[in-house]
Amino acid sequence: MTKTDHVVASHAIVPTPDFYEYPWSPLATAETDGSFVQLTWPDGAVLRAFDLWLRENAVGHGGVDLATREGLFDPAELSSEIAVLSAQVTESGSLIVEFAPDGTISEYHPGWLRHVADGNHRAPSWLPTPTSWTAATLPEPPTHDGSVVLDDDVVFGQWLDDLIRYGIARLSGCPTDLDFNATLAAKIGAIRDTNFGPLWDVKADVTMAGSADTNSTANTNLRLGPHTDLPTRETPPGFQFLHCIVNEAGGGHSTMADGAAVVEALQAEHPEHYDALSTLNWIFFNRGPGIDHRWSGPFIDHGVAGAPLTLRAFYPVRGFPDMAPEDQPRAYAAMRCFSQMAASDRFQIDYPFAPGDLVGFDNRRILHGRDAFESGGKRHLRGMYIDQDEIRSTARVVSRRLAAMNTI
Ligand SMILES: [Fe+2]
Repeated sequence: MTKTDHVVASHAIVPTPDFYEYPWSPLATAETDGSFVQLTWPDGAVLRAFDLWLRENAVGHGGVDLATREGLFDPAELSSEIAVLSAQVTESGSLIVEFAPDGTISEYHPGWLRHVADGNHRAPSWLPTPTSWTAATLPEPPTHDGSVVLDDDVVFGQWLDDLIRYGIARLSGCPTDLDFNATLAAKIGAIRDTNFGPLWDVKADVTMAGSADTNSTANTNLRLGPHTDLPTRETPPGFQFLHCIVNEAGGGHSTMADGAAVVEALQAEHPEHYDALSTLNWIFFNRGPGIDHRWSGPFIDHGVAGAPLTLRAFYPVRGFPDMAPEDQPRAYAAMRCFSQMAASDRFQIDYPFAPGDLVGFDNRRILHGRDAFESGGKRHLRGMYIDQDEIRSTARVVSRRLAAMNTI
């Protein structure tokens, strides 16, 4: 093990492997230890940096391209001859590493290294922590000013953060023109197209009960129980946005329940039902003419570690049990219990739609529905889906931008 001295001069500007700005966080020591360089900071923070990882992140020296800030090394070229010859902390606290076999020397920004030591390079960074809620803790959707959301980053960022934290957030006072969804999407990212089209309409006219001219139960006057859209897909759409253009009808309140909270309660109070719903598969399919979208998965799908919760909960497109016949009685019992909990006063909130409201919600976490209409009139909602990646990316960018403004 070699301990180094603080004698090396730093370059004036130390590029990082990305385009972000990091506070300068001077290192205290750098010690080589086999294939690792152990870095420490004065406050005791530590990072064990593997030699090949450091070599891959050498900006402008064949590791990360200075123009694109993307990695250049094909893993096949990361030979066993690559090693750290020396690692030193500069006078200003950056790290300088000399690599074998070609003598490449690369300098590393200590703030960039520190953000890795602190775990701020992980996917949840710059995002709020999801918080589950019940009807008692969140009686109505968190609401922000839709009249300024396109121009005010603070309002935009708070709305995005609430979407991620609670899985639901409303904008009120939005324009009621048909293109507002698309205008908002242009600030966020790509719209997720489906068999309903990129922008789709949910229209109900109570004077025309039972209209056959529709491709969805949503376009009727019927109650819609708590559900998630498009479990027929390998990855159902991440977020759903409903923009109210017109609402002259009585009743027809939106209903929402936090599926994350229902899952937590089910696991604690009915573990046998939780087990059935998280391990037994169902086949979901869109049975429209000209399409055959079909996917088999569990009702409660936790995915890989760190993945967002996916509930596959839409009875209109649930086709077949994909399980042994002897498992079907417990699968139905578990589903009934879950759906009753989701529709109970404990978990479900309801609220009317006013023209100019735009409600966004996590389509895979939040169970949404609609009460039956009570009196006549038209209602027109315009919907779209935007996937999780787009929402999270934009939320991180806005959070970074606001943080930078606050430090000026
Ligand atoms: Fe729906």
